[in-house]
Amino acid sequence: MAFERVGVVGLGTMGAGIAEVFARAGLRVIGVEADAEALARGRGHLERSTGKAVDKGKLAPGQRDEILGRITLTTSREDLRDVDLVVEAIPEILDYKISLFKDLDRICEPGTVMATNTSSLSVTAIAAATGRPGRVVGMHFFNPAPVMKLVEVVGTVVTEPGVVADVTALAGRLGKTAVAVGDRAGFVVNRLLLPYLNHAAALMELGVAGRDDIDAAMRLGVGLPMGPFALLDLIGLDTAYEVMGVLFDETRDRRHAPSPLLRELVTAGLLGRKSGRGFYGESSESGESGAYGGAPHREQVKPRLGTFKVVGYEDEGDGLAERLRAAGFKASEDPDVVLCLADRPVIEHAVRLPDPARMVGVHLVGEQVAELASTALTSEHAATAARDLMKIVGLTPVPCKDRAGFVVDALLFPYLNDAVRMYDAGYASIEDIDAAMRLGCGYPAGPFEMLESFGLARVRDGLRALYTEYREPAFAPAPLLDQLVTADLSEFPRR
Ligand code: CAA
Repeated sequence: MAFERVGVVGLGTMGAGIAEVFARAGLRVIGVEADAEALARGRGHLERSTGKAVDKGKLAPGQRDEILGRITLTTSREDLRDVDLVVEAIPEILDYKISLFKDLDRICEPGTVMATNTSSLSVTAIAAATGRPGRVVGMHFFNPAPVMKLVEVVGTVVTEPGVVADVTALAGRLGKTAVAVGDRAGFVVNRLLLPYLNHAAALMELGVAGRDDIDAAMRLGVGLPMGPFALLDLIGLDTAYEVMGVLFDETRDRRHAPSPLLRELVTAGLLGRKSGRGFYGESSESGESGAYGGAPHREQVKPRLGTFKVVGYEDEGDGLAERLRAAGFKASEDPDVVLCLADRPVIEHAVRLPDPARMVGVHLVGEQVAELASTALTSEHAATAARDLMKIVGLTPVPCKDRAGFVVDALLFPYLNDAVRMYDAGYASIEDIDAAMRLGCGYPAGPFEMLESFGLARVRDGLRALYTEYREPAFAPAPLLDQLVTADLSEFPRR
């Protein structure tokens, strides 16, 4: 089936982006909003987004006019009677969606395909509320829709043969890659992404590290396009909260219970970019006007960057010591700060020193980041000295508490473990999971690519340490990961 006329219901950030994607591909679009005010906001999204492209020289002004000219805006759903496809992008609340689909079912021709952009709700439940369950699918775009290359196409047990294939072909025409998935809360991307974002909020609430430090660690250390708090602001804290709630209802996994921090911010109306303030303020990602702004208060101690000692991990330790010496610092047996690169909790090493207050744990992440773990005994002087030393050798310090996995491994490894469990449960292939995270979230590599490049044993051991410390059942290594390590394999078998 060829789709030429499409309707988009709901012109918030996602709906307007989806309308733009269709119009850019040459389709005629009818955009529907509830009232004139919402319609004006939708028009504003479309004008700003295409205007930005013109300013950047990506679109000629004439092309922009053509794109906008293909989009008709209306407050009447009845105008959708002749469309071939309608995509819904209204708030993530099942009752709203069901009532909308019942209405669309009445308005649209029997052959019209009806798609929901839900991130987490049951497509089957939405389909079953209509008189055409076979022609209802999920068509899940990613924010910003004009940029992210992935569309998750969700078929249900009652979807007619051919509909998923038609929608998949349409995604290709839009310049997107489609991954076909079954109807499970969160599909592939949100099932893996949202628990990680929720976990970041939990780590902040536990005081393991601050907002800016966590974001910097994930961006600069792992190469993600955004840190978790900047991404929560982009997605919208209300949307993230709703999606977490649906995941929790399905899984009863307490990691999926929305962080109390999210609830508090949503209740306060701090929804992220859409409301101008969320974790961050309006002006910049590192603005102080958002909630939980900046790093935790640190006592200003004038650094006395004298001497250091590096202990642990020979190669990495030698490399860091060499960099510090090259920057003019002296190694010493009576150092100001002892930099400990080793596994096990830093405190276990610190208590063996005559002066445990001088020890700071160090974990180098990629080429740019040094996580710096203070123990309960670390002095402010040693912590500050360690931070300054790292800055001088060109590393971004990420101060954190002495907890298993510090920040990066604590956030990354459970996400990788979830991907292994998802694959092992037969929900999606390794190739699809990797592609979904690369194209849906702009990750530099998918979870299996990351697992194989980090080394399966390292991730398995890191998960064991996390499990030992937090006793969180989901942190226990997935049996498949454990078995591959036991069998001394370094790659996942591609089935
Ligand atoms: N509309 C159109 N184009 C946009 C845009 C928008 N709203 N925002 C950015 N762009 C374009 C820019 O014009 C630019 O294009 P060129 O490269 O051609 O110049 C490009 O995207 C990059 O933008 P910027 O240079 O302004 O900014 P950036 O390099 O920092 O990238 C980003 C911004 C694309 C958002 C990037 O940070 C990113 O990929 N972040 C991750 C986003 C993500 O994970 N999305 C998925 C969220 S989960 C979800 O959406 C599902 C759900 O159900 C909750």
